[in-house]
Amino acid sequence: MEKKQIISKHGSSPLAGKVCLVTGATAGIGKITATALAAQGATLVIHGRNRQKTEATVDEIRTKSGNDQVSCLLADFSDLDQVRDMAKTFQERFENLHLLLNNAGAFFNKRIPTPYGVELTFLVNHLAPFLLTNLLLDPLKDSAPSRVINVSSEAHRQDQMDFENLDFKKGYFGIKAYARSKLANILFTYELARRLDGTGVVCNAVHPGHIATDIWKTNFGLIGPELKRIMGLFSLTPEEGAENSIYLASSPKVEGISGKYFDKTEPTLSSDVSYDDEVSRALWDLSAELTSLTGNQIE
Ligand SMILES: NC(=O)c1ccc[n+]([C@@H]2O[C@H](COP(=O)([O-])OP(=O)(O)OC[C@H]3O[C@@H](n4cnc5c(N)ncnc54)[C@H](OP(=O)(O)O)[C@@H]3O)[C@@H](O)[C@H]2O)c1
Repeated sequence: MEKKQIISKHGSSPLAGKVCLVTGATAGIGKITATALAAQGATLVIHGRNRQKTEATVDEIRTKSGNDQVSCLLADFSDLDQVRDMAKTFQERFENLHLLLNNAGAFFNKRIPTPYGVELTFLVNHLAPFLLTNLLLDPLKDSAPSRVINVSSEAHRQDQMDFENLDFKKGYFGIKAYARSKLANILFTYELARRLDGTGVVCNAVHPGHIATDIWKTNFGLIGPELKRIMGLFSLTPEEGAENSIYLASSPKVEGISGKYFDKTEPTLSSDVSYDDEVSRALWDLSAELTSLTGNQIE
């Protein structure tokens, strides 16, 4: 298949003609962020897991942004073969990748085991983006200066990285599993930034704020919609939540900054354990093993 020629009418925007891939762009913060990037002239690829919903989102973003350079890729992050196929299809269609925004994420009230030796939260929120990012390092490096952004959360402070119990066979608690996956996002960010030093590819993590999105509705059964409604009374709007990702994706002010955790527009300190190099290296090695990542490793 012929690879895409990048044409943009947004000549002055920092994202004009830049290829941006946003995961989990069919709802919540990801959809608003993706729409803003398209409005700034990006050649946008959105990721979703449901064909109908994802294609409808492409149409919606094209209409709202006035940019028709919007396409999609599908992968359910609970299946790493689908993540591999997604990375392959991306590279068949595009030579460049200037921005990878790892935004897709989920919360599960009940423990769901997977064939990968971890429960579902860790798989969807950490292992899938870990694998996707590693498989897309070549186009990221070829497109430098380029950016990787991992959407984490202040919730990361509520757990440690317990390698002996990653599967949560003991003591599953949804918030704890979610917190661990979000801590993994930050440890991955710092380790990736270290490994990419000197390549022109930067990697940062971001906390969007507390926002009443479907993440709090989908897996809470009957109380989900009510929980989302109550959260909406005291949390930020999804538009406010998207501001940090949009800033990190597009602002020239963060050019060259790497290995940081952002809350709003300034880097801030993450939890103590997130700065433990031994833990981040151990997490990297284990994640590579669990995702059968071979040949793409960067040291
Ligand atoms: N909301 C908050 O308060 C908050 C706070 C801190 C951090 N965050 C982080 O912000 C990011 C976006 O969350 P959100 O609040 O915008 O949630 P959301 O509205 O539920 O959107 C989540 C996105 O991830 C996708 N997704 C979920 N499970 C998936 C799977 N198995 N495979 C592929 N895609 C999947 C969803 O796809 P579907 O549309 O198909 O469901 C959707 O596009 C997440 O990483 C979350 O951890 C959120």
